Amino acid sequence: KKERAVANLNDLIRNIPDFPIPGIQFKDITTLISNGPAFAQVVDTLAERYAPLNIDAVVGIESRGFIFSAPLAYRLGVGLVPVRKHGKLPAATHRVEYELEYGSNKLEIHRDAFPTGARVVVIDDLLATGGTVAAACELVQMAGGRVEEVAFIIELEFLKGRDKLTRYPVYSMLQY
Ligand code: PRP
Ligand code: MG
Repeated sequence: KKERAVANLNDLIRNIPDFPIPGIQFKDITTLISNGPAFAQVVDTLAERYAPLNIDAVVGIESRGFIFSAPLAYRLGVGLVPVRKHGKLPAATHRVEYELEYGSNKLEIHRDAFPTGARVVVIDDLLATGGTVAAACELVQMAGGRVEEVAFIIELEFLKGRDKLTRYPVYSMLQY
């Protein structure tokens, strides 16, 4: 059955002060995804946006990106390609190191994830500094894919993550 549109998705994002460290206000999506009509609305919005783009694969970024990328891939009728934290993917990988607020992390993609020239949309839950998704896009290109767009549920505009993503179209549903 078709659910009514959710009045305001913003109201379903919970603010958690001082998490994970003092001074940071965490945007909690668990309160959105536990609401069935809201979760469906988010996935449907993405599916309607990407259905006309002839996407060959959806790339989801571990962990929270998986929550939205998997149902989107299903809706588009295409495969899901995971970008995972280092050491998790079993076959031959490409690896990119990226900077965090404290230290660095590594992301990987399977080398044979898609055919050369595949049209890809990259999905994550949240755009903050942009380091994570910039690394994921680099991995997509290393594996032969073409990033048609990168999409987020939440964009923290004050962190200027878009400045790291000038080579790709960027879409976000909610901005703070
Ligand atoms: C969070 C969030 C994004 C990333 C955004 O993931 O889910 O992936 O940070 O930050 P950035 O734009 O500054 O790179 P996190 O690394 O906390 O891990 P998780 O998704 O596994 O919870
Ligand atoms: Mg994440």
